[in-house]
Parts: sequence; structure tokens; C-alpha cells
Amino acid sequence: MVFHLLFLLSLLTDKADPEPVKPQIIGGEDARPGEFPWMILIQYFSNDEWERGCGGAIIDHRHIITAAHCWLRKSLPHRVVVGAHNISDENEPSRQIHVPCRFHQHPMWN
Ligand SMILES: *[C@@H]1O[C@H](CO)[C@@H](O)[C@H](O)[C@H]1NC(C)=O
Repeated sequence: MVFHLLFLLSLLTDKADPEPVKPQIIGGEDARPGEFPWMILIQYFSNDEWERGCGGAIIDHRHIITAAHCWLRKSLPHRVVVGAHNISDENEPSRQIHVPCRFHQHPMWN
């Protein structure tokens, strides 16, 4: 499956703290594995490793939406992680990795 990344204005969060991930929502609770299957993680390759980029959401079988500022590191390779539950655990069997083939930036974003 090939995804196009749509970079639109959104409320999705930026890069999180370095690992391990710290809880950042007071009074929240962990999602159950598979509870939000449309959530994705965008990573970019820097300093010989895949770095945590932004969250995003699957729109359809070919499109992902994320925040426009997630494209600021456009010279680096990017990939989309689908099916992750604990984003600090690289060995989750539910994970799938996809490489985006095209990026679209919202024309109104500056
Ligand atoms: C997430 O994965 C990391 C790395 O394997 C692990 O240290 C951590 O305990 C995990 N967190 C949870 C909530 O399972």
C-alpha cells in the first residue's frame, strides 16, 4: 500500500519528548491496542536512526493527514508507521511500515 501525505492545518501534536514517552495528558488513560486503528506515526531518518516525527490519521487507503509543520524536514526520508500501540517498542508485531510516495502541502499554509 502506498500513501500520499497530506499536509494540512491541523491540531495534531508535534514531536514528542525523547524516549521513553512520558504521559502528557493528566487524568487520561492508555488506549487499548487497536482502539484507534486510523492513528499513524510519521518518522524521519536522521543521525542513522528513525526519529519520531508527528502523529497523523488515515483518510483512505492512499492518504494520510498530518500537520503542515511536519513537512519542515522535507529533505530527510520519511516513513509512515501503522498499527503501533507503544511507539517506543520497535518490535510490535502489529506494526506496518509504509513509504509515502508524494507529499501535498495545503496551499493556504505559510
Ligand atoms: C513501551 O515500550 C518500551 C520499550 O520496549 C518499554 O520500555 C515500555 O515499558 C513500554 N510501555 C508500556 C506502557 O508498555
